[in-house]
Amino acid sequence: MSDDLDVLLSEHRKFDPPAAFRAGAAIASPDVYDRASADLRRYWGEQADKLEWITRYETVLDWKPPHARWFDGGTLNVSANCLDRHVRTARRNKAALVFEGEPGDRRTLTYWDLYVQVNQFANVLKSLGVTRGDRVAIYLPLIPEAAVAMLACARIGAIHSVVFGGFSPESLRDRINDSECKVLVTADGGYRRGSVVPLKRNADKALEETPSIEHVVVVRRRPGAVGDEAFAEMTEGRDLWYHRLMRGAAMWCEPEAMDAEDVLFILYTSGTTGKPKGIVHTTAGYLVGAQTSTAQVFDLKDDDVFWCTADVGWVTGHTYLVYGPLANGATCVMYEGAPDWPEKDRFWEVCERLGVTILYTAPTAIRAFMKWGDHWPARHDLSRLRLLGSVGEPINPEAWMWYREHIGGNRCPIVDTWWQTETGSIVISPLPALTATKPGSATVPLPGYSAAILDVKGNEIPVGGGLLALTQPWPSMLRTIWGDAKRYVDTYFSKWPGHPELYFPGDGAKRDDDGYFWILGRVDDVLNVAGHRIGTMEVESALVEHPAVAEAAVVGKTHELKGQAIAAFVTLREGFKQSPGMRDELRDFVGEKIGAIAKPDDVLFSADLPKTRSGKIMRRLLRDIAEGRALGDTTTLADPNVVSSLKEMYEAQES
Ligand code: PRX
Repeated sequence: MSDDLDVLLSEHRKFDPPAAFRAGAAIASPDVYDRASADLRRYWGEQADKLEWITRYETVLDWKPPHARWFDGGTLNVSANCLDRHVRTARRNKAALVFEGEPGDRRTLTYWDLYVQVNQFANVLKSLGVTRGDRVAIYLPLIPEAAVAMLACARIGAIHSVVFGGFSPESLRDRINDSECKVLVTADGGYRRGSVVPLKRNADKALEETPSIEHVVVVRRRPGAVGDEAFAEMTEGRDLWYHRLMRGAAMWCEPEAMDAEDVLFILYTSGTTGKPKGIVHTTAGYLVGAQTSTAQVFDLKDDDVFWCTADVGWVTGHTYLVYGPLANGATCVMYEGAPDWPEKDRFWEVCERLGVTILYTAPTAIRAFMKWGDHWPARHDLSRLRLLGSVGEPINPEAWMWYREHIGGNRCPIVDTWWQTETGSIVISPLPALTATKPGSATVPLPGYSAAILDVKGNEIPVGGGLLALTQPWPSMLRTIWGDAKRYVDTYFSKWPGHPELYFPGDGAKRDDDGYFWILGRVDDVLNVAGHRIGTMEVESALVEHPAVAEAAVVGKTHELKGQAIAAFVTLREGFKQSPGMRDELRDFVGEKIGAIAKPDDVLFSADLPKTRSGKIMRRLLRDIAEGRALGDTTTLADPNVVSSLKEMYEAQES
């Protein structure tokens, strides 16, 4: 982390919000920060009043650290907030989702279209026996039906659990089983870089061991394609085609009056153990966070075309592709596929053709665009863009500057937004018309949020590096971990004993003289690979399941495009030989167990791993080796020779 600190400490560029942007901005006065900090409850109450309630809440916040209840006594429906209230206005015929499939197929759904489909699918779910509180797993490509399924669950009070389509059958199985989902919504396939991701086939493998699933609804993504059967074999009685069910479904479904604190969704994310955590978000607080932050951070206007490039399998897709923009009545672009398909200018071609005004993407993508060359965006007219966003990992100042110049034409403000699956919505970010930005800094907490840098004892570090803490509750905070209330307390609210009100996000950060936050990355055993969270323990548990592996240790190493890449140190069992073939086999094995995103870049075989005398693997040293750094202190090692020979082997493999 100290290398990162050095780079960031030498970053002194600062950009004021452009005057043209300030002129028409929704929030153009800094008073909003003062109003929020003067009376947190009043501020969040005002934001909540912008939702449509069935019964208005009685109390804004009930905070018994570390447990919060927001907007108690209120009832509302999220799908009605995202759809019904717009179809009653002139927005009825406005584009809600502008979808583009990777092969080039296009569909525009107006608010009315989406409303009708959500009502219908809500009725379909009901007809399959899904009722309030039941869990529904969604394993789909990035297609409109993903949003339809999520909103339909919200309409009837079912809890959705979206599983990213890139996850393996085993990952899907474990997530379905953890929350005992009753129905799975999947598709025959999705497109990625010209190939078909066989989602139904993967799902079928998962379904061999998911006793809670009663029905599988299959979206036909590949109508008429040759060999469809190969991608979706339907099991009679259990599997049903989406389009057939929809044909017979009634177009009105009364939205369920949900309590503010009823669960809206579960989303699994990696932690420091081998088992992903089911992050639980509830109804009103989540929607208040999503609606408020989308309006404020993206300065959303009625004629904006907003493109959040994230998949709905991640929290960014939940909050800024579905709930936040739709609650605000915005037009959203949804693109299914890869940024370099069929050419490396796909994003810019889409931006130009659809007249995208706000683009929200990840640093890993920006670094790839930089590498591919300036000429790709230069071919397109990107002058409609007025605001750029970044999310998912620290953005290096160089990538930030490139984004500003080559995509934003030195005209668009950049909002570097720090948040997490657990926070539900953006926490630290500039307000584009107010905050002077610095390349690489997420700047300051939004109105109504408060953060600090603390040392391990909980003392505040006003200027300098330390652990990031959120010091007040916020509406869209996670409420618990599904089925594991203790882990919620242990993971997030036990870092500073005696301070159960302090939330620990697991990130290290630095604060500068202006009070700006610079996020440095995770300080726990969680990696951030291409903006995706992966636990080192998850990869280790997958590796040791392979019959050839006796022991494995996994660390992150810096990667030019992905931010971090995975390096695995593996000790083989007696009788197994190391070889390039074995390396590939282990990489593929992890891909099958977890998903392609978790495949290690490097696999190094070693007869021993560096351990302390008490047998603990010294990851710090392995990180030094993987990064090619000088070795740190090795005096506590049981056998100091292990590291030097490992380092030599690693260097030999790299060269
Ligand atoms: O380390 C931080 C990093 O991503 C983590 C959260 O990952 P996830 O829950 O998958 O959510 C990603 C999308 C919100 C954080 O703990 N992170 C996210 N945004 C930023 C970031 N690091 C630096 N700058 C950011 N803007």
